[in-house]
Amino acid sequence: MNGQTTMGLAAAAAAAVRPCRRRLLSSATAAAAATSATANPLFPRLPRPHHHTHGRRFPFLASAASQSQASQTGPAAPPTPVPVPSDPRAAVAGNLPFFDRVLFPDSFPLETPPAEEDVAAPQADEAVAPAVPAREETETEREAWRLLRRAVVSYCGEPVGTVAAEDPECTETLNYDQVFIRDFVPSALAFLMRGETEIVRNFLLHTLQLQSWEKTVDCYSPGQGLMPASFKIRTVPLDENNEGFEEVLDPDFGESAIGRVAPVDSGLWWIILLRAYCKITGDYALQERVDVQTGIKLILSLCLSDGFDMFPTLLVTDGSCMIDRRMGIHGHPLEIQALFYSALRCSREMLVMNDGSKNLIRAINSRLSALSFHIREYYWVDMKKINEIYRYKTEEYSHDATNKFNIYPEQIPSWLVDWIPEKGGYLIGNLQPAHMDFRFFSLGNLWAIASSLTTPKQAEGILSLIEEKWDDLVANMPLKICYPAMEDDEWRIITGSDPKNTPWSYHNGGSWPTLLWQFTLACIKMGRPELARRAIAVAEERLSDDKWPEYYDTRSGRFTGKQSRSYQTWTIAGFLTSKMLLENPELASILTCDEDLELLEGCACCLSKKRTRCSRRAAKSHAVE
Ligand code: GLC
Repeated sequence: MNGQTTMGLAAAAAAAVRPCRRRLLSSATAAAAATSATANPLFPRLPRPHHHTHGRRFPFLASAASQSQASQTGPAAPPTPVPVPSDPRAAVAGNLPFFDRVLFPDSFPLETPPAEEDVAAPQADEAVAPAVPAREETETEREAWRLLRRAVVSYCGEPVGTVAAEDPECTETLNYDQVFIRDFVPSALAFLMRGETEIVRNFLLHTLQLQSWEKTVDCYSPGQGLMPASFKIRTVPLDENNEGFEEVLDPDFGESAIGRVAPVDSGLWWIILLRAYCKITGDYALQERVDVQTGIKLILSLCLSDGFDMFPTLLVTDGSCMIDRRMGIHGHPLEIQALFYSALRCSREMLVMNDGSKNLIRAINSRLSALSFHIREYYWVDMKKINEIYRYKTEEYSHDATNKFNIYPEQIPSWLVDWIPEKGGYLIGNLQPAHMDFRFFSLGNLWAIASSLTTPKQAEGILSLIEEKWDDLVANMPLKICYPAMEDDEWRIITGSDPKNTPWSYHNGGSWPTLLWQFTLACIKMGRPELARRAIAVAEERLSDDKWPEYYDTRSGRFTGKQSRSYQTWTIAGFLTSKMLLENPELASILTCDEDLELLEGCACCLSKKRTRCSRRAAKSHAVE
């Protein structure tokens, strides 16, 4: 809970263009001001002349003397470069994921790109023509655009994101007045497809700077590459006299979040969005910047670091993604695996190949290979597989056990026995020793299609299951966040009796209209736009009348969610993005990845002479189907 102001105030503060105070951030920066002759703006390629330093605080550098010396302001004062104590590239040139994670806190965040980039890069918002052809918009679309623009927040006069919700009737803002990384993605896509790219570029660069913020939860510091769940723009007095104010970006890495959940998905979304931005704008110089390359590597370093894991999937705590409360998804939840796979694919495309990155790229390739095999083989269920599990022998001790995870057939839930269709199938929600979470999670399944984590045949199977189970997964509002809901004792034990996550509400089987854009994307990728059109039509009937709610309740999504916000930004943006994607299906490629057959060849077990063996060879025919 971070919200101290009302949501309206946040937007008002952002809209009121107050002169942005420039402030140097450290004694190091002050020293640099004295010695440096050249000044590098933070966003050297943005067309606007009034670039600024960001006002974020570096708690580890905040000495009173330097602060006062550093508080020089003035519209003409250029942003001050930071001295580089040693080449920051050295920090990222090591062999990731084993490189030294020590950053140069007074240099890295403001690391500026090489001068020649200025020449090559297209000017955001000047060079990028709207990707979507102009046509007469419907009244609902016009309203959605109006609301989306109302949700935009500015930092020092420049747009940097959209607040999670702008509900004038809601007095308890909690943290809905913040810019959430995951929530901003559909907003970013809508803006990008409309040719309004500046806000996305600003967002990417500002959140990149927040990545190296010194974060602590009580006495513990989470990993260096972590991206915040959200950030807020605060206006703070420059001194006790309240004569001057400045804006600061205040991130939340989970240290204020309800339940102190770790935003594992933020960094993954950031990488996915970065690739989408570069692909649609052609501004590839952005991804090549040293600070951007470092940001990618830091995120990957966190994800690829060695632990005690026996699986290639990413091991996370409960609530580490869109479902950010206790819902029994700790371990290896599908959503995180799909985003992880996608982020690895995107990073591999964007990382500049050199001596410093080649080991990282090798590590990415081998993880991608193992991850896709693991998910395709062990997460996939269909009629045939459920029947196999039903007949599993247990307690097998051997390398080539059939029932590798020692799943007891009694775990097959009774609802699934009747629910699993003859045709199609899906990826289960989680897999751990002696545990399969058979719930259907929409985002994980849809993103597995978009990123080609599944085989093409599995992707078709998932869409066919959604079509077959339309009344359960779409019904009156696309799309169920997960199916089915946990009830009674299961709800009590697994959610901890969470009153927000009661059966068929919120994360526990609620319907989330924002998921429409991921559904549309998956449908386009698989050549099934008509399915998306059908879902969009269902949503369009209600969203505006219902004031663009965050989520819907009940088994068939009939009621507006119990505690649902109105004018939820990612509901609005998800709707717009879906419509624009449908109209311009070729733009789906900024987000999707194609099947990479080479990945299926790379199997660590086959390469090594160790006695370990996997079932990949046997399963290969299935894996390429
Ligand atoms: C809820 C959602 C989370 C979202 C946040 C802001 O906590 O579970 O995914 O980011 O609201 O909209």
